[in-house]
Amino acid sequence: MRGWMGKFRSLLLFGALTLILTGCGIENVSALKPKGYGSELLFDLMMISIAIMIFVFVIVMAIYAFVLFRFREKKGQEDVIPKQTEGNKALEVIWTVIPIILLLVLAIPTVQATFDLADQSSQDDEGTLTIDVTGNQYWWQFTYADQEISTSQELYIPTNERVYLNMKSSDVIHSFWVPAISGKMDTNPGENTNTMYLEAYEEGVYEGFCAELCGPSHSLMYFKVIAVSPDQYDQWVEDMKNVDPEAEPETASAQEGQELFNNNCMSCHAIGGGSAGVGPNLANFGNRSKIAGILEPTKENLKDWIVHPDEIKPGNQMPAELVTEEEADKIADYLLELQHSDVGQDVPVIEASE
Ligand code: CUA
Repeated sequence: MRGWMGKFRSLLLFGALTLILTGCGIENVSALKPKGYGSELLFDLMMISIAIMIFVFVIVMAIYAFVLFRFREKKGQEDVIPKQTEGNKALEVIWTVIPIILLLVLAIPTVQATFDLADQSSQDDEGTLTIDVTGNQYWWQFTYADQEISTSQELYIPTNERVYLNMKSSDVIHSFWVPAISGKMDTNPGENTNTMYLEAYEEGVYEGFCAELCGPSHSLMYFKVIAVSPDQYDQWVEDMKNVDPEAEPETASAQEGQELFNNNCMSCHAIGGGSAGVGPNLANFGNRSKIAGILEPTKENLKDWIVHPDEIKPGNQMPAELVTEEEADKIADYLLELQHSDVGQDVPVIEASE
């Protein structure tokens, strides 16, 4: 009975593990399906380490099994003690030299990749795109200083181009991570600016995360990198430059919403333009695939977020119940009308939870 239960349990454990592991390697989300230069380098390093580990494991286990069977007590020879050997020069040399070789095999590409990822030699080249990234509790700001564009939560980049990011934080330490296309890098408060680059091989919407515990809503600090063709990217820049924050919305409700928004929200937020506010720049908000990085873009969710941001992202800076439900309804109508660019809308979004 016990044996059967034991087998069943290990089968269950094995089955569960298999199911859990099938969750790894989701396109555009996982470091196990690299879609960019940085993530590919890291993936290759990971594969080299795993190959070395498997090699060592197999050899050690083979020797272990051999010794276990070869030298175990045999029937009729219970009192026999095998020949005792102490010290063997050849063996000792072998098990010192092999690990040194293995470490070298691991170290050389690791050091190469480290320098490669830190390379900033092309940052000052003509036409190189540099974007300022600011981590905030709990959202991301992206400023394209040369283009006089500032956005939040969705980072647009052209494919197959090295895009540099100058990164800092407005409050505590955050960490910028887009596993499918890059490694991760901390954003620090103060004068310390970190620089890294992104290079996406394919068009796509890539999931980004904050990878440094930064407060109660750290795990909700998602963002997206939207990689589009260079032509599409130029179109996006053009669209974003033409955003007019004063443009009159279509419906009466949205018009009232605009006025309410200007009176209540504009002291922190901005719509369009290159300057960023204390809060996110909401240009093109109506085309975002998520509200606040986490909610489905429905009007109900948006109203909830406007009135009760503290319940959705605890510890964030947006004041709760600044406007009434009724006012929030109109503001939501206005914000959802802010659709200034449809670039990237046809790129499928793959969620980590799918
Ligand atoms: Cu920001 Cu964790």
